[in-house]
Amino acid sequence: MPPTDSRIRAVRLDGPGGPEVLRLVETGQPEPGPGEIRVRHAAIGLNFIDVYQRTGLYPLAWPSGLGLEAAGVVETTGPGVRRFRPGDRVAYANGPVGAYAEAHIVREGRAVRVPDDLPLETAAGALLKGMTAEMLLRRVFHVKPGQTILLHAAAGGVGLLLAQWARALGARVIGTVGDAVKAELALARGCDHVILYGEEDVAERVRALTDGDGVAVVYDSVGAATAEASLDSLARRGMYVSFGNASGPAPAVAPLRLSRGGSLFMTRPTLFDYVATTDELDAAAAALFRVIRDGSVQVRIGQTFPLAEAAEAHRALEARRTTGSTLLIP
Ligand SMILES: NC(=O)c1ccc[n+]([C@@H]2O[C@H](COP(=O)([O-])OP(=O)(O)OC[C@H]3O[C@@H](n4cnc5c(N)ncnc54)[C@H](OP(=O)(O)O)[C@@H]3O)[C@@H](O)[C@H]2O)c1
Repeated sequence: MPPTDSRIRAVRLDGPGGPEVLRLVETGQPEPGPGEIRVRHAAIGLNFIDVYQRTGLYPLAWPSGLGLEAAGVVETTGPGVRRFRPGDRVAYANGPVGAYAEAHIVREGRAVRVPDDLPLETAAGALLKGMTAEMLLRRVFHVKPGQTILLHAAAGGVGLLLAQWARALGARVIGTVGDAVKAELALARGCDHVILYGEEDVAERVRALTDGDGVAVVYDSVGAATAEASLDSLARRGMYVSFGNASGPAPAVAPLRLSRGGSLFMTRPTLFDYVATTDELDAAAAALFRVIRDGSVQVRIGQTFPLAEAAEAHRALEARRTTGSTLLIP
């Protein structure tokens, strides 16, 4: 059984700000209420959404914890819990906020069982980002064999998983990246072509790679810096999927812009609406664990930081110094 100290270390924020607002504090061990479990964390997943929440782009109620994703072992269960027992290996990716801690309370319906042969670190590095890839490729836009797709930040956490999974579905994948080292990584993990978007004209390169046609779908998590190029890269009746703001929120798109681009579609999905029920969560996680276990999607933990260095991890993520997934280790 894991240790059951009566106090835990957790990250707290009194209000929005830079990475320096992340404080490590000692706090009382949280007790699970009805339908809740306490998860003792083995690894915590770092996600760009944590940055949006820290800066206030996505509002939190202050003071607050931070972090939506972790994997570990169920330590104790509240009244009425049926899905899990103490000792079960679990992961969660849709909060509530407060995963940056040694342990956290989660509703049983928001956690999933981690297969025995999957390291908890892999689960923490993959669940939120990989279920996002599942949502994007199988439900937001159904990618079919032979289609050419474009995705940005292809060497990032979501990017590497998305590119590999898209290739496994039979798509031809064009990825954009910030530098040459990331380009090599993206080519080794799913991308057929890479574009250095700081140096090259993305839409021009996409047209050249597609005989002028453009791509069926663009998965754009970079936002402000890439929105126009994304729209310009689409084939007639293509789908612009805006799903993040790493460079700032994407600008508004007028309906006539979609018409002029070739009767385009646009959507702005968020994972939490796609894993809103426990059945949806279980299905998305099962699909992800399947592609990891059959080897078609490899999870790359690019860097790990001690929990006490969460601020440094945020600095690295925001400065584009990370590749693949990032973990905080309690
Ligand atoms: N909608 C949803 O439900 C959902 C769910 C999960 C994630 N997301 C989004 O998916 C994206 C990826 O998340 P992640 O956690 O895996 O992060 P990540 O991709 O590992 O990191 C973000 C990457 O974005 C690129 N980038 C471009 N311009 C940037 C800028 N001005 N500042 C910082 N980074 C910039 C960088 O790659 P290069 O150096 O190669 O440009 C950077 O490494 C985020 O936008 C996140 O919000 C959305």
